Amino acid sequence: MRWTAATALSHAVGGSFHWRKTRKSKLDQAASSPAPDARHRGLVLRRLSRRDLSQVEAHFKGLPQADRRNRFHTAATDEAIDAYVRSIDFTRMILIGAVMAESGLLVGLAEAHLNDRDRPDSAEISVSVDVGWRRRALGHRLVVQAVWAAFAASVGQVTFSFLPENFALVRLISRLGARVDLARGQASLKRSEAAERAITR
Ligand SMILES: CC(C)(COP(=O)(O)OP(=O)(O)OC[C@H]1O[C@@H](n2cnc3c(N)ncnc32)[C@H](O)[C@@H]1OP(=O)(O)O)[C@@H](O)C(=O)NCCC(=O)NCCS
Repeated sequence: MRWTAATALSHAVGGSFHWRKTRKSKLDQAASSPAPDARHRGLVLRRLSRRDLSQVEAHFKGLPQADRRNRFHTAATDEAIDAYVRSIDFTRMILIGAVMAESGLLVGLAEAHLNDRDRPDSAEISVSVDVGWRRRALGHRLVVQAVWAAFAASVGQVTFSFLPENFALVRLISRLGARVDLARGQASLKRSEAAERAITR
């Protein structure tokens, strides 16, 4: 599914997702531990809530047009971003943010979109990182956390939807062991021991 502001709006109605608290997830552990990568000093990765939505909006609006297109698969205007952020439904989405500990500024975001009507066992993952924080493995770390969070929510596979020229995303998900269909701009990673090993490396 191509994730646009319009599909987000239609996707946001009906169904619900309940975060399973049955075991302490790696996500919870990661959220409470210091960043392991020196390049991420000063950053905290944590689950976001409704209170963080203004930061989410500012983060998306800070992306240059080409990145907005890569993220939303359309030339997302500020108004489209407003509509998308308003449509975020925390019963169906898990948002992981990379937040600067001192200022609270959000510099990266991974989203797991759960409970798609057509594929209830799947979660689609999307990710974006502020331009100034790129190529420091932050995108990788955010995606890993989002995949863990989705698996912890009993999702059987995660999917990615991307524009074929998005080399950074293709590189990132290939390293995780996802099956990538370049021509269709689709990739998937089934939950398995091998996948869990790949994302803990
Ligand atoms: C895709 C994106 C999240 C990557 O963020 P990032 O923090 O730079 O990613 P990482 O540093 O973890 O890099 C992941 C891999 O991609 C590679 N990479 C990063 N930027 C690249 C580029 N422009 N061209 C080719 N490879 C690139 C990195 O070298 C790394 O590979 P490696 O692990 O073999 O070294 C970021 O470019 C972005 O926000 N783009 C706009 C939004 C978007 O495209 N979202 C994806 C669709 S949902």
